[in-house]
Amino acid sequence: MTIPCDILVFGGTGDLALHKLLPALYHLFREARLNPAVRVIALARRNLPRNDYLKLAERHCRAQVARTDFDEEVWQRFSARLDYFPMDASQSADFGRLARYLGEPGGLTRIFYLATAPKLFVPIANHLHTAGLADGEARIVLEKPLGHSLESATAINEAIGAVFEEFQVFRIDHYLGKETVQNLMALRFANALLEPVWRNNQVDHVQISVCETLGVENRGGYYDKAGAIRDMLQNHLLQLLCLVAMEPPAQFEAEAVRDEKVKILRALKPITGQDVQDKTVRGQYGPGRIGGQEVPAYYFEKDVDNDSDTETFIAIEAHIDNWRWAGVPFYLRTGKRMARRSSQIVIQFKPVPHELFNGGQVNQLLIQLQPEERISLRMMTKSPGKGMRLEPVDLDLNLAQVFSQTRRWEAYERLLLDVLEGDSTLFMRRDEVEAAWAWIDPVIKGCEEHFQAPRPYAAGSNGPEQATSLLARHGRVWHS
Ligand code: BG6
Repeated sequence: MTIPCDILVFGGTGDLALHKLLPALYHLFREARLNPAVRVIALARRNLPRNDYLKLAERHCRAQVARTDFDEEVWQRFSARLDYFPMDASQSADFGRLARYLGEPGGLTRIFYLATAPKLFVPIANHLHTAGLADGEARIVLEKPLGHSLESATAINEAIGAVFEEFQVFRIDHYLGKETVQNLMALRFANALLEPVWRNNQVDHVQISVCETLGVENRGGYYDKAGAIRDMLQNHLLQLLCLVAMEPPAQFEAEAVRDEKVKILRALKPITGQDVQDKTVRGQYGPGRIGGQEVPAYYFEKDVDNDSDTETFIAIEAHIDNWRWAGVPFYLRTGKRMARRSSQIVIQFKPVPHELFNGGQVNQLLIQLQPEERISLRMMTKSPGKGMRLEPVDLDLNLAQVFSQTRRWEAYERLLLDVLEGDSTLFMRRDEVEAAWAWIDPVIKGCEEHFQAPRPYAAGSNGPEQATSLLARHGRVWHS
């Protein structure tokens, strides 16, 4: 059970709070993981009476939580711990009101979850400090994106660091809370079998793809300024790359794990100048069909500029300059409105050194995060009958089936629990975020300098053709 605490959610009426955070807290409460003294206080500008907020919260929790997990009696007890406090997070005076409403901490830890636009991070931290709310016990949780460049991320980190110590700051990348992402560490560091082949003499290349069928939904205003590079590549995809490529840490604890990840980010070969054109493909979806439904082009989405050149797709060839990975390309790809939802990592091994049989003989390890959690190893086997005809067959570990009796935790449940337990292993440290931006900045700059409009692709397709060529020119294909 966690420490007694007040969890204050800034942006309490936003999508993240209603769709993810409250349902996650409900689950934790239901499973008696939260201290009974916990209070969850949603903060937002709307002037709502508490009861109206509870109704809003209940509606969203019912929609997000599986019917079998939604218990009326638990909800009554949970909602008794839930409150709403209307305030304007940009106004210093409102923090004085908040401090009076909260009263003396009396042994409670205060957790400030900033589910707001990043431009509010610094003012909120400063106002918390002025109002005397940022004591040495408090924790602050920051949602990505942290800034839009190295410079802006550093400025945010500086300002937050002036109020909170690094151990009090939890920078969330929800991909790190996904079950299979953590399983990746178990797979690598709890199975001696893989270690000898997890390097450049055996691995041909690595693919990391996060493909979504969703468009920008009602986040057009934010997305049109961010694009896929800032929204997904700088954080989720680079985090996955770190977990695939990092050296085994000495211990499974926050500093040791994050030290290894930072080393990878710093070893990423810079992509600058002409390389930006050769090694990246930006795309933007046009009209198309997804699941039998017509969907509009990106530039017709709500709050998106109708001559926008923001990318909704990015593919990039990255290299890690170290002994283990020298010469192994890491192909990263992410896009919205693609043919199917699928997040996966593929480790493609080199072919056998000497072919005895006809046909390409390669092994492939697939780690699928979504839609199903699965790990499978493609082996070459003889197909039945006369002659040595080879066929690839998958050794399949379907985690949802193997652990069918266990409820699968949502990423936010695990991460919230870690915040409450003060464990930052699965959160991004300041130097990690900055190292990721330091690699991404020249890519963004290169795209701007060689101004190249994003390549169009039809919604419901696999992205622009140029992304296929990125691999095809080296005789490789994207795993589908
Ligand atoms: C978010 C991005 O961080 O991750 C979204 O801002 C994206 O644009 C989402 O849709 C994808 O997360 P998941 O868990 O659905 O793969």
